[in-house]
Amino acid sequence: MKKQLPKFLANVYVNIRESNDQLQREFLDCLKNREIVSKFSYWGEEPTQSWLKFCLASEYKTYPQGVSLLKQAGADVAKHVGGPKLNYISLGIGNGEKDGIILRHLYRYSRKISYYPIDISTDMIKAGLNYVFSHFHNIPTTAFVTDFKILDEIVRSQTFRKDRNFFSLLGNTMGNFNQVYLLNILRKSLDHNDFILIGVSIRKERSRETKEDIRKIIRSYSNRASKDFAYSPLKKAGIRKSDGAIDVEFNRDPHYPRLNRVDLYFRFRRNATAHYAGQDIVYKRGERILLYFSEKYYPDDLKFLLNDNGFRIIKFYQNGSQSYAKVLCRIK
Ligand SMILES: C[S@@+](CC[C@H](N)C(=O)[O-])C[C@H]1O[C@@H](n2cnc3c(N)ncnc32)[C@H](O)[C@@H]1O
Repeated sequence: MKKQLPKFLANVYVNIRESNDQLQREFLDCLKNREIVSKFSYWGEEPTQSWLKFCLASEYKTYPQGVSLLKQAGADVAKHVGGPKLNYISLGIGNGEKDGIILRHLYRYSRKISYYPIDISTDMIKAGLNYVFSHFHNIPTTAFVTDFKILDEIVRSQTFRKDRNFFSLLGNTMGNFNQVYLLNILRKSLDHNDFILIGVSIRKERSRETKEDIRKIIRSYSNRASKDFAYSPLKKAGIRKSDGAIDVEFNRDPHYPRLNRVDLYFRFRRNATAHYAGQDIVYKRGERILLYFSEKYYPDDLKFLLNDNGFRIIKFYQNGSQSYAKVLCRIK
């Protein structure tokens, strides 16, 4: 479905590609399948606010690590990607802070930048643009409220194809997806002249990693802000927090067993019934719903994944504690 809305904020056009009905049907399937797919962790006012709060939680290091590495690497990234005219396509705007940092660097090399945030959550787009516009008042912007799954279709549309596209996928967003599925979508959406910057959580090399390093990773999700964020989509279906508890586990990725991820499950303490879109879904005591997962990559595995899925690594930036990386890529 295509629906062009009139002006949303002062100088933004929002192009909604997925109807609310469609999303509701998908969310209903997630409740039935006992697995919430990543986009529903951010869809709607409450999940958006919970995510914004989680970014600020002192236990959650991924967010500040991502910001500080971007500050360090931003100038070098801009040197590689900058050109007189550039489309900056932000995949998952979040609170907008990281886009602000990138834009500040890009403007040193590019006179004309068009900004295209793409996000499933209108509320997230509002929050992110609020930040970006407070620093860049007149940047030409078209926001797309849609799933990344139709990225290549959006990118092939006329608006985008005249100049170089520079994509960002930050905040370990890649780590919330089936890896190969998402990388395939991205690869199809880039041309040889384009760049993508991917920000992910990494781990020390296998030989240097200790049990305490793993405990630290788990701790950053075993806190109130993280659990509130993970639980937030269930509220829409009338599942109460007190109906269960949240299990945080460090598991192997079921599809790619070389990889590990943090899984957050809602485990029912008692029988409960969810009500959504006119249907009831019954859960028995002890059943679990997978709420959220986040991959944690060894640098070698990350490089392999990117290479194996058609990306050429131009620059690999990582922080001193080897917990966060930004990878600047082109397609092969
Ligand atoms: C982990 S947050 C990262 C936000 C920001 N890039 C950062 O680094 O702080 C993921 C972002 O991607 C959006 N998102 C998640 N899954 C999506 C999907 N399937 N399609 C479109 N947007 C999605 C979320 O709404 C959110 O803004």
